[in-house]
Amino acid sequence: MKFRLLFERSLEPIVIFDENRIIDCNAAALSIMGAADRQQLVGASIEEISPEVQPDGQLSGEKARDIVKEVLKTGGSKFEWVHRNLDGKLFWVDVFLTHVSVNDRTLLCGTWRDITQRKIAQESLRLSEKRYQEMFEKNPQPLFVFDVDTLEIIDVNLAAIEQYGFSFEEFVSMTLGQLLQADEIPRLISHLSDPEINGKKLSCKHIRKNGDVRDVEMTGHELDFPGKNLRIAIINDVTEAKKAQEELRNSYERLKMLSAHIQEVRENERKGIAMELHDVLGQILTTINMDLSWLSKRIPEKEKGFQAKVSSMIFMVKQAVKTVQKVSSELRPVILDDFGLAAAIEHGAQSFEKKSGITTSVMLDRTIELDKQRNTALFRIFQEAATNVIRHAGATKFEVSLHKDNDIITLLMEDNGCGISAEEISGKMSFGILGMKERASFIGGKLEISGLKGKGTQIRVVLPHGGKKALQ
Ligand SMILES: Nc1ncnc2c1ncn2[C@@H]1O[C@H](COP(=O)(O)OP(=O)(O)O)[C@@H](O)[C@H]1O
Ligand SMILES: [Mg+2]
Repeated sequence: MKFRLLFERSLEPIVIFDENRIIDCNAAALSIMGAADRQQLVGASIEEISPEVQPDGQLSGEKARDIVKEVLKTGGSKFEWVHRNLDGKLFWVDVFLTHVSVNDRTLLCGTWRDITQRKIAQESLRLSEKRYQEMFEKNPQPLFVFDVDTLEIIDVNLAAIEQYGFSFEEFVSMTLGQLLQADEIPRLISHLSDPEINGKKLSCKHIRKNGDVRDVEMTGHELDFPGKNLRIAIINDVTEAKKAQEELRNSYERLKMLSAHIQEVRENERKGIAMELHDVLGQILTTINMDLSWLSKRIPEKEKGFQAKVSSMIFMVKQAVKTVQKVSSELRPVILDDFGLAAAIEHGAQSFEKKSGITTSVMLDRTIELDKQRNTALFRIFQEAATNVIRHAGATKFEVSLHKDNDIITLLMEDNGCGISAEEISGKMSFGILGMKERASFIGGKLEISGLKGKGTQIRVVLPHGGKKALQ
């Protein structure tokens, strides 16, 4: 009677069979079977409360008979079983089956443990593993699973086989090092020893079976694998991108050289024209002027008409001389070559003030001596900046300073006008500004522009006095 109570109250379903049919079961078994009372189950065969086949493909009836036979022989057995309850729903149980003798009758007693949840979890895990496997196999980027300690390749995907030309068998008998040029292997090893490797990129070259060398980026991730230090490497082939980048950089470099060359040619041309104007035309005008003075002295005083004509001619010739001087000095300020940058800027600032009416002040270190190329570049930058102040700033003040500090030369030009905007600085049509920047960079310097709306614009050029090392 006591045992009956234990049987009844057990939380685990217990079912008692004679050979094949249920003769008794407890409340937990009724509940898992979806039965309202015992009568619904008593008399049912194992086949009737199981699906036709078990997951291993065996017919439930046959399999049950085999197990019973074994239990009768050995005394007990533990196995997994799929049952079907009265509503037709399948559930998994771990069965512990024993046999007992009651009044000369041999009965079988099965204790069930519901493992349906575990089975569902296992199944979904299996599916997700399959999904991961597919993601690995079908990934368009080559993937390598390798052993960090030996660099042995453990697994590769299809993309790796197709792109590298090695077969799977060849790959798994190789090490990751064999894909690299020998002198890159130490770099790979030190990269792999980084404790925070996950997601970190290593740029290197990989050699394919046909000898092609490709630029790649390898990204490594640790794999959770018991007993082995495994990683997965994702390969990104950047050969084409790198080539395109290189070409772009080359063509940009060539354009810069071309622009510098054109500037130089232009500068030389200007110099040539300036000299021609100044020396030849200037000379002619001076001679004419002298001849006119000679004439004027010899015209009798009473010839007022002749006198007036000659005077006006002298005036015109003087105007022409001035114009020649102005034009030739604008083309190429002689002062720059003869007296240096500070003198040229000072002279330029004076004409700027006269021309524009904008109050101009200069603070120039006259001890700074630079070569012709840098003198020209800085002076042309000053000229462009000054022209921009007249054309765009609407300023009333313009300040220019040139000084040297710790072997760094700074040319600073500031106005108090409307202020340049970021869009104007990098504007597609801002060739004046681009030209200033190019000139600065070509002599190893750097030009920065900043504008404050309504407050003014500042242009700063810095360059090392030594001039060898360009500023970054
Ligand atoms: N000192 C300045 N103050 C205000 N705006 C300026 C100044 N210098 C240049 N800018 C703005 O930047 C633009 C680009 O200048 P720039 O490249 O020299 O071209 P451009 O003088 O031929 O217009 C100008 O059109 C103007 O709008
Ligand atoms: Mg301009």
